[in-house]
Amino acid sequence: MTARERHAALIEAMIADGTLTDPALIDTFRAVPRHRYIPESGALTHHGTPLSAVNNPELWLAAVYTDDAIGTRVEGVGLPRQRSEAGRGPRSATSSSSAPTVLARMLELADLANGQHVLEIGTGTGWNTALLAHRLGDSAVTSVEIDSHVAAVARGTLRSEGYSPAIQHADGYEGWPPDAPYDRIISTCGVRRLPPAWTRQTRAGGLLVCPWGLLEGAGVIIRVECAEDGTATGTFHGGVGFVSLRTPEPAAPPVRDSGQQPDEYRLTQTDPLAPLTAFTSAFALSVLVPDWRVRRRWIGTGSGVWVCDRSGESWVRVYPYGTSWMIEQGGPRSIWDEFEDALAEWERLDRPEPERFGLSVDAEGGHRVWLDSPDGPGWTV
Ligand SMILES: C[S@@+](CC[C@H](N)C(=O)[O-])C[C@H]1O[C@@H](n2cnc3c(N)ncnc32)[C@H](O)[C@@H]1O
Repeated sequence: MTARERHAALIEAMIADGTLTDPALIDTFRAVPRHRYIPESGALTHHGTPLSAVNNPELWLAAVYTDDAIGTRVEGVGLPRQRSEAGRGPRSATSSSSAPTVLARMLELADLANGQHVLEIGTGTGWNTALLAHRLGDSAVTSVEIDSHVAAVARGTLRSEGYSPAIQHADGYEGWPPDAPYDRIISTCGVRRLPPAWTRQTRAGGLLVCPWGLLEGAGVIIRVECAEDGTATGTFHGGVGFVSLRTPEPAAPPVRDSGQQPDEYRLTQTDPLAPLTAFTSAFALSVLVPDWRVRRRWIGTGSGVWVCDRSGESWVRVYPYGTSWMIEQGGPRSIWDEFEDALAEWERLDRPEPERFGLSVDAEGGHRVWLDSPDGPGWTV
């Protein structure tokens, strides 16, 4: 199949499965093909396979029109290795072309209309920037990218494709004050907390759309409406994986089993990892239990996990033990007990999916996740 045929097929699939519904967006996706924004060499598939349009054009094109992210700036390929909180492999992407359905879902949620002024955080390849510029016009779009090389490449690609939105090399954590206020802020990198500048720079009644998540593997898209008084409220919309926004916060220490002796052992026949790996329960646990992180870990008897809080003082080690599972925990908190209580609460609430949860941000930046309505049960996160 040619690039043109594959591009057309991707759009038809997104229409058929209901991802794309807005006619103006459908036209936009038809007019801005992804393959123009993917580098001919140096990119990696979602699974880490190197892509080259010269050496293997068939694989390159197939990857471009598969609904997956493509790593376009990859540690170990012309970039120094960075410390990775999530413990991803040695070649993790610091910039990528987002999966087509992720961009389509975010743009649909953004409810774009002519005359709006949009700030994009995380230019990356510039594909989403081009979609925005095509839909709203060059002068309606500002995009901020923290990596100067990525920003320069995107600027060049956009220019050669006939688009000239403003691409700023800056830290998007601060938004982009010179062009504020915006009707929409769309971030293609994910956050744990909405940066205060984003809510401040969104016009009252404007929308902010971005990936959000407290736990790797349990991320969702959030859309919040910003109010005059600096508050914001909105809901979650399905799962998403994402490149994290680089923030000024100090990097969290690595999640590492340092071999502590447990305060308590527990044996169970029920697979204790299932709630941590299933998306809906992991999302609920990320909200209901504060401050914890998890890492897969190989422990003699098989594949288990290590869970700890930010201080590293409280922890849980889970591993297969014959036909059972061993759970060890230590430290001032009993994190495993907190998980069990939270799962019981989640069952009692009728196992709500992430779409039943929402987020309110107060004028001081406090974040509260709630169930069903801002007045419903809630958790400070
Ligand atoms: C998922 S990629 C962008 C995807 C892009 N929309 C596309 O489809 O090509 C996220 C981008 O955000 C950038 N980024 C991360 N932290 C940032 C920050 N604080 N400010 C601006 N850009 C940031 C990364 O360098 C990366 O290029």
